[in-house]
Amino acid sequence: MEPVAYIHSENLESNISILKEVVKKRVIYVVKADGYGHGLINIVNTIRKVEPAAFFAVARFSEAEKIIKHDSKLNVLLLSPLLDAYELKWCVDNGVHFILSGDSTFRLLCEYLGSVHFKNVKGNVWLKYNTGMNRLGLSENLVKTYYGLLKNSYGDKINLHLLSHLACSNKLDHYANELQQKCFLNLSDELKLPSSLYASGGTFLKKCKQDTDFHRLGLLLYGVSDCFEGAKDLKQKLLPVMSLHATIIEINQIKKGDFVGYNASWIARESTNVAVINIGYGDGYPQSSEGGCVQIADRLYPLIGSVNMDTITVDLGSNANCYVGQDVIIWGGRVKVEDVALQANTSPYELLTRVTNRVKRVLL
Ligand SMILES: Cc1ncc(COP(=O)(O)O)c(C=O)c1O
Repeated sequence: MEPVAYIHSENLESNISILKEVVKKRVIYVVKADGYGHGLINIVNTIRKVEPAAFFAVARFSEAEKIIKHDSKLNVLLLSPLLDAYELKWCVDNGVHFILSGDSTFRLLCEYLGSVHFKNVKGNVWLKYNTGMNRLGLSENLVKTYYGLLKNSYGDKINLHLLSHLACSNKLDHYANELQQKCFLNLSDELKLPSSLYASGGTFLKKCKQDTDFHRLGLLLYGVSDCFEGAKDLKQKLLPVMSLHATIIEINQIKKGDFVGYNASWIARESTNVAVINIGYGDGYPQSSEGGCVQIADRLYPLIGSVNMDTITVDLGSNANCYVGQDVIIWGGRVKVEDVALQANTSPYELLTRVTNRVKRVLL
């Protein structure tokens, strides 16, 4: 069988229930980048089963369109700045929430709200406050200025919210977290707007801060948590939503001294059996992986040689009972995507979102 990513909807449902109990605030489900690589609509549908009025966050206009085309009643927040008047009008008309992080969106918004084309639907605007990340967002003064101008001129036509993004949420004790939180909470107290400070898996697990009205949940939803410190008990309950599978397509007997693969990078120290597995970096397995392993039946076997575009090779040893056609779990079983990320010097975020299109997503 070709490589396949099984999407375990029961695990997602269970993760949501567990996390919602802890969050206690309204959750915004972050489903950008094709639902973190799991398939956007798969994930949206599963989340809706648990929470029919769920609120979803995406990063691209096209992702917002895809969700609204799927069901126009869904609540969506677009986290990246709008690029033109068409996108702004579409978001307002379709009730899609969007961020205001700069002058161009402010102008487009005022033009549309003041125009004869404005339909009588309320725009849902999130003032994005730059609390120190210095990437996207408005200074404190600009937040206040836009807040005042929008409230006075178009107060009846829009709902305003406040949002920000932590820079060091994976480094729990970093001084920036406290600084950013302080700025954010001061301003949200002053403006009294519904708010969401990005807490990410990391800060959420350690501090479980409940100071904002909405909580944006991403990686933890998908059952990936080992990359965050703390909250061991909670992390143990979260289950991986994706299991990535491939198949043994060849088993070769290798003599002592034989090499395997490109650049003859692996040489057998003793005779062994080497399985060729039909997954490679063309499917999203990281080429930089060094020393990882895969699961065949209930045993782990080490990767050898280099990761190719279409295959990897593993050492089965001399007595393995493996066979051609056998299922191989690449991650999502005993090997976690967090382990593969560590071996490849990358992050689980990157690995999940770069599983390529030639890997079929099968919703279970
Ligand atoms: C703006 C924003 N909010 C929320 C999230 C969710 O973060 P996590 O996946 O760490 O929970 C992200 C992730 O990239 C993000 O960019």
